[in-house]
Amino acid sequence: MFKLAKSMNENQSVFSPIKVGNTIYKNRIILAPQKPRNCAISRTFIHEEMEFWRKFAQGGAACLTIGATPVNPLPDGKGRDGNIPVHDDSCLVPLSRFADMTHMYGCKASIELCAYDKPGSSKEQLVEIVPDAVTVDEIRAYVKNFADAAERCVIAGMDAIVIHGAHGHFPAAFFSKAMNKRTDEFGADTLENRARVADMILDAIRERVGRKIVVEWRLSINDMYPGSPTFDEIVWFVRHIQDRVDIVHVSRGLHRLPSHERFLFTPIYTPRGINLKDAAALKEQVSVLVCAVGGITIELAEEYISTGKLDFVAMARELYADPDLPRKAKAGRKDEIRPCVRCNACINNTHVHRMPAYCAVNVNNNREVLFDTFPKPAHSRHVAVVGGGPAGMEAARTAAMRGHKVTLFEKSDALGGMLKYASVPWFKKDIKDYLDWAVRMTQRDPNITVKLNSEANAELLKAEGFDTVIVANGGTPIMPGFLQGKANVAW
Ligand SMILES: Cc1cc2nc3c(=O)[nH]c(=O)nc-3n(C[C@H](O)[C@H](O)[C@H](O)COP(=O)(O)O)c2cc1C
Ligand code: SF4
Repeated sequence: MFKLAKSMNENQSVFSPIKVGNTIYKNRIILAPQKPRNCAISRTFIHEEMEFWRKFAQGGAACLTIGATPVNPLPDGKGRDGNIPVHDDSCLVPLSRFADMTHMYGCKASIELCAYDKPGSSKEQLVEIVPDAVTVDEIRAYVKNFADAAERCVIAGMDAIVIHGAHGHFPAAFFSKAMNKRTDEFGADTLENRARVADMILDAIRERVGRKIVVEWRLSINDMYPGSPTFDEIVWFVRHIQDRVDIVHVSRGLHRLPSHERFLFTPIYTPRGINLKDAAALKEQVSVLVCAVGGITIELAEEYISTGKLDFVAMARELYADPDLPRKAKAGRKDEIRPCVRCNACINNTHVHRMPAYCAVNVNNNREVLFDTFPKPAHSRHVAVVGGGPAGMEAARTAAMRGHKVTLFEKSDALGGMLKYASVPWFKKDIKDYLDWAVRMTQRDPNITVKLNSEANAELLKAEGFDTVIVANGGTPIMPGFLQGKANVAW
């Protein structure tokens, strides 16, 4: 039986290079498609955007994928805010800068291409473009948009494109009998007709750019919706397109259904690696390289890559939480990887609040330039941190990282504060992993002295001559008045 290696190093399968199309990926970890909304992705690819992406390239991922980018312009010919305008040549500067940067780190540059519906489309619709609502001429126009965008990607020096055929996007909607009610040659009566849009996109791209670029196809292995394509139909589909694509990338669900967040961005309450088994089952039946996404840790990645069940893993949030994940694992420093707690604060920020994708455990994510340009301290100070919960530990590590000498006072006999209690239920294992990481990294920092069972007070802090005191003693739980004194309320 396969035994999972306890420690990792450069010899793990996940770090082995692999030929993809006409190029070589240096390892098996792809930064999954995402758009951080750190600012409107601009025509010039400004410094802030560059630094957001650079840390992933520096961190050792094999390929970085810019998220869903519409190939079709708005009806007035303009692009959509926050997207690289792949529908016209003004995308060439940002794309080439992105590609140049990734190549400096031996990393591949990729972008996910999709077609968006016209503005004002119904909020109720479950798919991006409703098959019945488009004419054949409109389908042909979208297909041409894909080929035009692919050609621009080649000119700009991009290594790969991902066709968004997952989550109810354009080709996926046509392949789904639940969404496609047409009766013409694009209709749902035969598999060939359902796959016709995908065929047209791939044929147009390959005709235009040949094999000059890696083509990855993202699909939902299951739409998790009544009437979705079955597993066997997905196998048929992948066999049907596999000569024209280099990687098939397995995700799940429909992105317009809010309840599907739990499939697209699996939260803490759900098992990790939601798509691994299905992707491995798919790989057994097809000849193309297969990648899976969805809550995949480095251990799961190694398990599936080393046993040949998968060729790639894609990670988004794991790399938000720690962009150095590949580099640390490769160097045998797996225990330093800051785990993602799958709280989905990042998604909530981008998709609900239209804010940058800030991360709950990695304050640096999307603030790279802010912090990098913040002046270094002129002198090392003696800093006291009062309270050893998550905030106190973070403050202590940050101060130590900036060159200060830190003493951390914790009045109980263990670090962790409220996280000690929050991480008890079995379904909060991600929190436990984060807590263990935070305690480990705090305790091993040579610039931090941890004093447990030590209650700090003003006299003590004055007597020890600290330059700065950070109070991080947390909050006190309150019981709302209307619950107080009730016999059946536990607090
Ligand atoms: C902030 C954010 C934005 C995302 N945007 C996209 C996107 O534009 N296109 C897409 O196909 N997936 C997008 N995703 C989904 C990821 O590609 C990935 O499938 C998902 O996060 C699950 O992988 P993970 O558990 O490694 O995060 C996004 C994810 C995040 C966190
Ligand atoms: S915000 Fe939460 S879910 Fe998103 S990357 Fe950070 S820890 Fe993970």
